Amino acid sequence: MAKAKPATEIDWENLGFDYMDLPYRFLAHYQNGKWDDGELTEDGTLHISEGSTGLHYGQADFEGLKAYRTKDGSINLFRPDQNAKRMTRSCARLLMPAFPEDKFVAAVKKVVAANADYVPPYGTGGTLYLRPLMIGVGGTIGVHPADEYIFTIFAMPVGAYYKGGLKPTNFTTSYYDRAAPHGTGQSKVGGNYGGSLLPGDQAHKAGYSDVIYLDPATHTKIEEAGSANFFGITADNEFVTPKSDSILPSITKYSLLYLAENRLGLTAIEGDVFIDDLDRFKEAGAMGTAAVIAPIGGIEYKDQLHVFYSETEVAPITKKLYNELTGIQFGDVEAPEGWIQ
Ligand code: COI
Repeated sequence: MAKAKPATEIDWENLGFDYMDLPYRFLAHYQNGKWDDGELTEDGTLHISEGSTGLHYGQADFEGLKAYRTKDGSINLFRPDQNAKRMTRSCARLLMPAFPEDKFVAAVKKVVAANADYVPPYGTGGTLYLRPLMIGVGGTIGVHPADEYIFTIFAMPVGAYYKGGLKPTNFTTSYYDRAAPHGTGQSKVGGNYGGSLLPGDQAHKAGYSDVIYLDPATHTKIEEAGSANFFGITADNEFVTPKSDSILPSITKYSLLYLAENRLGLTAIEGDVFIDDLDRFKEAGAMGTAAVIAPIGGIEYKDQLHVFYSETEVAPITKKLYNELTGIQFGDVEAPEGWIQ
């Protein structure tokens, strides 16, 4: 894999969401029952045993967070402590030894500082996406937790996750489920995403941005989009997002639940969203670190496209939520206490 080109040659306005091998990443090892301190390294290739549980049995979890260039040139992180906490929970689910949360945040800062040239300039809409990753390594061929682990954090400048960016795109539903009740849907683990590749590919080939998964037990309720959570806004100005044990607890979702209620005066609700009852929503969108807020034009279900506000125009409340959230992240709007580091 070729190293990323120098930051001075990057077209910041036209970034996609693609891997780049930046100069530095953080790498720590867990051996003999403890984590070492970790260090920045220049080698973006991991050297691991063929018997690694991360390869065979999906003993691997990850996070996603971003660094934002502000108007005055400084760099903001958005709620990195929440990513550290969520990774601790994912690790517990897969019997992995969590990396200490304070050291997680410190390591994120080191990676950002070392690759600071690659944090896109303010005003381009680009951000530096950070990908913390933990995998079970060492030789373990039985279905047991590994004895050794690698924790790494690498980074790359990114633009919009869904091609439309802030333009509405259409989503579809699928025959396939994302995660089982009482399974690993709440954890940010590789297997949830591996299983989404086929339905995602089918959706893309049919012209949709992504799949909206239904609840695995009854197939009557919206769960999430796999790479982002779902929200709808009702005629009564309720911001509604599904509550379920098999969806990923998105940090963006909890941030927007707070902002909807406290900054926009909406009623924020985590509850059931029935796929047969989409008429209650005048606006809808997908939300997540990578997706930010992606307006949903319509959702296809049983060969019918249900359009919310418009397939081409961003709906007004969705736009206000987007401005509030990104304003906080880029340092233009006052943040709730503790959200920005
Ligand atoms: C994120 O929003 O950071 C995600 O991890 C979603 C996806 C790119 C896997």
